[in-house]
Amino acid sequence: MIKKILVTGSSGQIGSELVMALRTIYGGENVIASDKCDNASKKIKSSGPFEKLDVLNYNEIDQIIDKHQVDAIVHLAAILSAVGEKNPMLAWNVNINGLINVLELAREKKLLRVLIPSSIAAFGPTTPVENTPQKTILKPTTMYGVTKVAGELLADYYVSKYGIDVRGLRYPGIISNETMPGGGTTDYAVAIYYEAVKSGKYECFLSENTNLPMMYMPDCLKATLDLFHADYTKLKNHSDFNVAAFSVTPKLMAESIKKYMPEFEITYKPDFRQAIADSWPNSIDDSCARAEWGWQPAFDLDSMTQDMLKVISEKHKQGLI
Ligand SMILES: NC(=O)c1ccc[n+]([C@@H]2O[C@H](COP(=O)([O-])OP(=O)(O)OC[C@H]3O[C@@H](n4cnc5c(N)ncnc54)[C@H](O)[C@@H]3O)[C@@H](O)[C@H]2O)c1
Repeated sequence: MIKKILVTGSSGQIGSELVMALRTIYGGENVIASDKCDNASKKIKSSGPFEKLDVLNYNEIDQIIDKHQVDAIVHLAAILSAVGEKNPMLAWNVNINGLINVLELAREKKLLRVLIPSSIAAFGPTTPVENTPQKTILKPTTMYGVTKVAGELLADYYVSKYGIDVRGLRYPGIISNETMPGGGTTDYAVAIYYEAVKSGKYECFLSENTNLPMMYMPDCLKATLDLFHADYTKLKNHSDFNVAAFSVTPKLMAESIKKYMPEFEITYKPDFRQAIADSWPNSIDDSCARAEWGWQPAFDLDSMTQDMLKVISEKHKQGLI
């Protein structure tokens, strides 16, 4: 039975919320948050252990596993798509060498489980764009995507070669209101809500009809926890589960915001991230996740918009943003 979980990259957009969700289930002391920077929120630091940990340092991970008697890892430390295109070697180094350190330690220490997110960035321009299947052409054109495909293959190799329980899911763009995203191509879908509340207008770095799969953070946490807790014997796939909630363009997102803030205005000024977005699918077939571990999202675009605007308006009133 899993008792102690190490989360790498836990100060990021997903980690900062996933650590709290895991602590609710496993107890604060049993979920070790970690990040290369000593930048965890007060909430994370006051509710359980936090370790400064660079995933490129094998010995440091080794020591922290021993110190806390860790038996499972949720490996979130990564360089995302837009940052990765600006610094491809950094993306390769962190996403591949950090990952292999985690997998090798999982093998050596006989850890019970490892969860590693992949991304819709594993797909590329030659992948079918609509209802993209799980098993399909994986020829990404970004370094981030290259590392995600290699990561999925490596993770599946550790399952078949060493019998390690490694699981992974391809997140779409994740939209949240606690921690700002860390430099991805779908970051506009968070910034648009903050700017709607703060200034009533937003200049989008993608063009109006760029359709991308997205998911609200509560569904991202649910998908991650549901896969983490899924019955291993029922999994036919391991490291490459497609998961979907809804697909949206900047124009549709702006229309959704206008339902609640009619005066909201959007303009478009595509930058280098447009080419990245154009290489990704429009919509995702997640039937394997639904069949093998019962995946089902709760939020659609409008229910997410209502919640995002409510939470961010409250933060704005309190002077927090
Ligand atoms: N957020 C999304 O929309 C999204 C979409 C698809 C996939 N993912 C994947 O989910 C995972 C988590 O993403 P996120 O959005 O929380 O990312 P993020 O950029 O917000 O956070 C990543 C964290 O990793 C840390 N980090 C970077 N290099 C490190 C190193 N060498 N050692 C230790 N920590 C290091 C950073 O300090 C940061 O806190 C990643 O694997 C990412 O590829 C995220």
